[in-house]
Amino acid sequence: MEKLKDELKSQIGVAKSLDELEALRVHIFGKQGLLTQQLKNLAALSPEERKTVGAQLNVIKGELFDLLESLKKQFEEKELEAKLLLEKIDVTLPGRSVSFGKIHPISNTIAQIVEIFGNMGFKLAAGPDIEDDFHNFSALNIGPMHPARQEQDTFYLKNGNLLRTQTSNVQIRTMLKEKPPLRIIAPGRTFRSDSDQTHTPMFHQVEGLVIEQGIHMGHLKGCLLDFLKAFFELSDLKLRFRPSYFPFTEPSAEVDIQCDRSGGKLKIGQGNDWLEILGCGMVHPQVLKNCNIDPQTHQGFAFGMGIERITMLKHGIPDLRTFYESDLKWMDHYGFSPFEV
Ligand code: DAH
Repeated sequence: MEKLKDELKSQIGVAKSLDELEALRVHIFGKQGLLTQQLKNLAALSPEERKTVGAQLNVIKGELFDLLESLKKQFEEKELEAKLLLEKIDVTLPGRSVSFGKIHPISNTIAQIVEIFGNMGFKLAAGPDIEDDFHNFSALNIGPMHPARQEQDTFYLKNGNLLRTQTSNVQIRTMLKEKPPLRIIAPGRTFRSDSDQTHTPMFHQVEGLVIEQGIHMGHLKGCLLDFLKAFFELSDLKLRFRPSYFPFTEPSAEVDIQCDRSGGKLKIGQGNDWLEILGCGMVHPQVLKNCNIDPQTHQGFAFGMGIERITMLKHGIPDLRTFYESDLKWMDHYGFSPFEV
């Protein structure tokens, strides 16, 4: 029996492939296998002999089995390595059919705003989404009892801070940090606890601010007209300034653009109708004082515009909420190629 064991072990030892190992397994353990035969032969032995021979055979069986298994594992590992080496792919190679992601319409609008105002000498500015009462309200002349606070459905944090309800906080931060002349635009996220077809709890605004000596409302009007013509790609777009009220500007105005609503379709830049698109005004003297700027020597204008709104108008997107549904089909339809922006 020992001889048989040694012989089988050396046969297993020289096996060169998984197939050879499998053939040996059948040769030893198969139905007609050598060891299987030996185990069958046990029946012919006396009970005494059967016990000792049976035990010996079992040990041999175990040893041979372990040897086969460990060699099998080694072969399998080698085979896998060879396969991986053969199937290695260079992921940096270009694919055969490539579909690019799209730029979200909001990102596209922001890029255009930055470009158009950039050409007019405006610098990009930013402020935090999490803001304090001073920068979002009180420095903008919205005191503790001011009704504008209730109108804006503010999200308050436990520590007394808030999510900014308007990008106007960047006016304050810029004036406190830098000396005039100032010419900035600040696109960014804003938050209000409001949700329906025309309101989402998070939306975007762009704030504009110009502080210089001798700035007046004519500059404001010309600047906005230039921007809107460029943005909507309409060379003879008409604007209308309507008197309005904002705590941080005096005088204040809302700006309407010419539109046509006949036939149930909205067309911008034609017809006799008007559509409101932004708020603006001359920076209130108190706001200048709050930011250590002397209203006797410096003046300026400010404006605030809803980015979703002008994006919907320009591209005919009907529902505000779809901007934030992360629907790939929607993105494919309304999004922009990265090479177009
Ligand atoms: N912050 C205003 C709002 O959210 C919009 C606005 C109006 C901004 C007039 C301005 C401005 O800078 O001058 O409704």
